[in-house]
Amino acid sequence: MKTALVTGACINTGVAIVEKFASEGWTVVFTGRNSEKVHAAEQAYREKFPDVEIIGYHIDSLLDERTVDEQAVESMFAFLDEKGITVDTLVLNAADQGLGMKIFENPLTDLMKVINTNVVWNFCLCEHAAKRMKDVGGGNIVFVNSNTAYRAIPDRIAYVASKGGQLGLMRALALDLGKYNIRVNAILPGMIKTDRWVKNPDFYKNVPSRFTPIGDVAVGEDVADAVWYFAAHARNTTGAELVVDGGNTIQLYPIIPEEK
Ligand SMILES: NC(=O)c1ccc[n+]([C@@H]2O[C@H](COP(=O)([O-])OP(=O)(O)OC[C@H]3O[C@@H](n4cnc5c(N)ncnc54)[C@H](OP(=O)(O)O)[C@@H]3O)[C@@H](O)[C@H]2O)c1
Repeated sequence: MKTALVTGACINTGVAIVEKFASEGWTVVFTGRNSEKVHAAEQAYREKFPDVEIIGYHIDSLLDERTVDEQAVESMFAFLDEKGITVDTLVLNAADQGLGMKIFENPLTDLMKVINTNVVWNFCLCEHAAKRMKDVGGGNIVFVNSNTAYRAIPDRIAYVASKGGQLGLMRALALDLGKYNIRVNAILPGMIKTDRWVKNPDFYKNVPSRFTPIGDVAVGEDVADAVWYFAAHARNTTGAELVVDGGNTIQLYPIIPEEK
């Protein structure tokens, strides 16, 4: 039985990823920072997939803005070792969105917090997972990255920088881990229909239709399908990026509706 570990999967895209792996019969371990939310999500997953083992694990990325909680990562993998669970696919979905960061206004620690979670913590998770994958002859890692790794959006300096850093991390890991039969790849979503977009109806009404050739944004299942491709099918693919953004990245300027 194969196992996926999915970070940040109590809500939004992470749920679709957990459900994809569970529906394929994999054991799924997922994480969240709030123990009550983790417990509630675990119950819901177990009800939906009674024949599959699903384990929620409560873990935070940081001790404070400047410090990644490496000990917590070690404890999580020790917990899995004790249960005899080896992670075949690590899905790095959790992200600090670093919303509302204004140039000249935020303290440096706001930037550090986002970089620490999205790059440093993710590296720490990769290292611990990859050590074990190496021992069993292979595995794979999938970053849920973002097309903001290539194109900036306003007031999100830390997030955009972190996603760019994450792509560099993905490539460096792919190179160093290839010899252990560990593949490392990234999904680059554009806009995903999560509660954040639903709470922002003006933006949602105007932006997807003008900024994506397909005229619609992704849903969690689109991202989950792409993750599944890398995890289960892409035997000879590593260091690759799969953009799931309705064509958002390749469009140079907004489509202005013709006046009637
Ligand atoms: N939504 C989009 O439009 C969009 C677009 C492009 C890329 N993406 C990427 O796709 C992935 C999923 O997006 P999403 O919108 O579904 O994400 P989300 O709901 O904003 O975040 C996923 C989870 O990350 C966890 N998280 C946040 N800050 C954290 C921290 N400091 N330490 C540990 N975990 C933390 C949260 O889980 P808990 O609060 O339960 O701990 C959260 O539920 C992310 O990597 C995101 O960057 C999203």
